Amino acid sequence: MDERIVTNHELETDTFEKNIRPDSFDEYIGQTDVKENIKVFVKAAKIRKTNLDHVLLYGPPGLGKTTLAHIIANELGSNIKTASGPTIEKSGDLAAILSTLEPNDVLFIDEIHRIPRYIEEILYSAMEDFKLDIIIGSDGQSRNIKIDLPPFTLVGATTRAGDLSSPLRDRFGIVSKLEFYTDEELTKIVERTARVIGSKIEKTAAHEIAIRSRKTPRIANRLLKRVSDFALVEGSDKITLDIVKKSLERLKINANGLDSTDVEYLMSIIKKFNGGPVGIESIASSIGEEATTIEDVIEPFLLQEGYVKRTSRGRIITEKTYREFKINEQKTLFDYDEM
Ligand SMILES: Nc1ncnc2c1ncn2[C@@H]1O[C@H](COP(=O)(O)OP(=O)(O)OP(=O)(O)O)[C@@H](O)[C@H]1O
Ligand SMILES: [Mg+2]
Repeated sequence: MDERIVTNHELETDTFEKNIRPDSFDEYIGQTDVKENIKVFVKAAKIRKTNLDHVLLYGPPGLGKTTLAHIIANELGSNIKTASGPTIEKSGDLAAILSTLEPNDVLFIDEIHRIPRYIEEILYSAMEDFKLDIIIGSDGQSRNIKIDLPPFTLVGATTRAGDLSSPLRDRFGIVSKLEFYTDEELTKIVERTARVIGSKIEKTAAHEIAIRSRKTPRIANRLLKRVSDFALVEGSDKITLDIVKKSLERLKINANGLDSTDVEYLMSIIKKFNGGPVGIESIASSIGEEATTIEDVIEPFLLQEGYVKRTSRGRIITEKTYREFKINEQKTLFDYDEM
């Protein structure tokens, strides 16, 4: 299900992401406030020759958290060690990573909200006093080990800041929320990526990809990749507006970045439930998806963009959707039969 080309989650086919990642603040487009702030702190840390304060980056998938973490390490001139919340299962796992750190290194922990609570507690003293304090072994023979760590910077990333415990959150000196991108910023990102992968692209074509990318660089880059494949097969040495339109039509991505799954969801509420209000379970059985999939994968973008509203009585289709799909709100159920 979440193999949709417009998903903001990373797909297995996104392998080219690593090669097109910007590696300096200058190449990182948008997120101006966050970037300017962090730039100052990085500069100050370098002048003082100390570690940068711990940084928490949060926001929806695909907006550039991992990318920014790597840039921070790069700009500090430090090594980056990476780990991911779900893979840290035992206190030893965390100890193993921490003990490899050198002074002023960056430790990047992705999905930091998924670290088990009792391991999180080990992080507290590591972050605060640069001390590792763990108990190893079981009952009778357990030993308490204390190790001094070099000063380091923990960069944590999460899509769910609300799931972080407050003691952990409070230990980050710099907390930054990444925002969705404007069409202009995404256009620049598309142009930059095209340059990196060696494709020529018209400005209007880059803009067209941008406006269909759900405000998310990951999606913009993915669409660009697909469109450049179309251009190649068509024998065009340049990606034109016409090629973008044709190829996105083939991929069934509409002018606002909605795909057939989005459309099916919206149309089912309109056709079968008269535009709502309707409960999530009813929608789920009408389109044959799990309710959780609908909530986690389909609805976030549609809610955020105001195609549908969530009320205490259920989901309601908005004015915007009727307008966009040129549907008259007064129509009765029968009128939709030809759609
Ligand atoms: N500001 C930016 N400028 C240029 N490219 C960007 C920017 N932000 C992200 N990208 C591109 O978008 C892709 C996805 O970014 P990234 O992997 O950093 O997202 P993420 O926030 O870590 O996502 P997730 O929550 O899924 O881990 C990367 O390949 C990167 O090249
Ligand atoms: Mg990431």
